[in-house]
Amino acid sequence: MKLSSGRRPGKVVTRRRRRGVPFTPPPLGWVVVTTERWTLGGDLGVARIGYGAMKLTGWPRGERPGRETALAVLRRAVELGVNHIDTSHYYSRDGVAANELIREALSPYPDDLVIVTKVGALVEGADLARPAAEKTGLTPDGLRRGVEANLRSLGVDRLDVVNLRMGDLDRDQAPLAGPLETLLALREEGLIRHLGVSNVTAAEFEQARTIAPIACVQNLYNLARRDDDPLVDACAEAGIAYVPFFPVGGFQPLTAARLDAVAARHGATVPQVALAWLLARSPNILLISGTGSLAHLEENVAAGSLKLTAEDLADLD
Ligand SMILES: NC(=O)c1ccc[n+]([C@@H]2O[C@H](COP(=O)([O-])OP(=O)(O)OC[C@H]3O[C@@H](n4cnc5c(N)ncnc54)[C@H](OP(=O)(O)O)[C@@H]3O)[C@@H](O)[C@H]2O)c1
Repeated sequence: MKLSSGRRPGKVVTRRRRRGVPFTPPPLGWVVVTTERWTLGGDLGVARIGYGAMKLTGWPRGERPGRETALAVLRRAVELGVNHIDTSHYYSRDGVAANELIREALSPYPDDLVIVTKVGALVEGADLARPAAEKTGLTPDGLRRGVEANLRSLGVDRLDVVNLRMGDLDRDQAPLAGPLETLLALREEGLIRHLGVSNVTAAEFEQARTIAPIACVQNLYNLARRDDDPLVDACAEAGIAYVPFFPVGGFQPLTAARLDAVAARHGATVPQVALAWLLARSPNILLISGTGSLAHLEENVAAGSLKLTAEDLADLD
């Protein structure tokens, strides 16, 4: 599964289309990603294959690409039709911050680019042993500071989508309603276009919907971690996007003989099969796989043209 074009990167047709105008894919199978789309929050059209920027910073741990590669990956993603980028101001390590890379690589932003960020129960810096910081992020002050930090670092007047990240905190101590009401007020101030929720239970999702319009849910989900199956379906029924993080396994790459077998049948890679499975799982699933590698980015985008058969899906179930 490779992108099939002899064009040099600089010659790729870049798309600066306006919101709401239907997209006509260029010839030669380029920009396979854009053939399937979803409308976030009722007005933001996105390709179902997006990109997650966390890996560009090496936050919270692990390797990261050099600065030039990071910028090239972001630009290449947009060239290939990606118009949904997931990020946060707290994806930052040793002075390398995702939002600043996004701004440098892509601003002035294409009209149709949707940048989804998150605030809430976050651990700033790479020190994961500071749960107190999670709680601070959920206070009214912490949420406002998070929104302002994203506005500033992305260089925008309004954030397209902000996810309220609830994290792993004990919910008796940190319930969802108050923070979501705070974000709703920031939305009414004009700082946020749409709201989403992240790291939530099905019950919290239902509660969130009684408080504010919810455009998306971002939770851990992949072929090997399917606890959220009912939530994926509940979101689909409600017309709400479900955006899985760790779609190809995150820090623990997915491995299984069944995955290898399906990948071999298609001449694809295991991550491509994992992504194609998510696309097949439900039309409201949007991908934000993260990579610091141009080759992996292209591979992940090409997964949009991998159609799994009924036999593949049965083998993977
Ligand atoms: N809301 C939350 O709490 C939360 C939590 C975690 C993440 N997120 C968001 O979700 C996004 C996705 O999560 P993620 O990036 O951690 O998970 P992921 O996409 O499942 O995994 C990324 C890892 O897989 C590797 N990878 C990606 N494509 C590959 C390919 N084609 N072949 C081989 N290896 C490949 C990457 O390494 P290489 O760089 O070597 O390709 C990277 O180490 C993040 O970027 C972030 O925006 C949200």
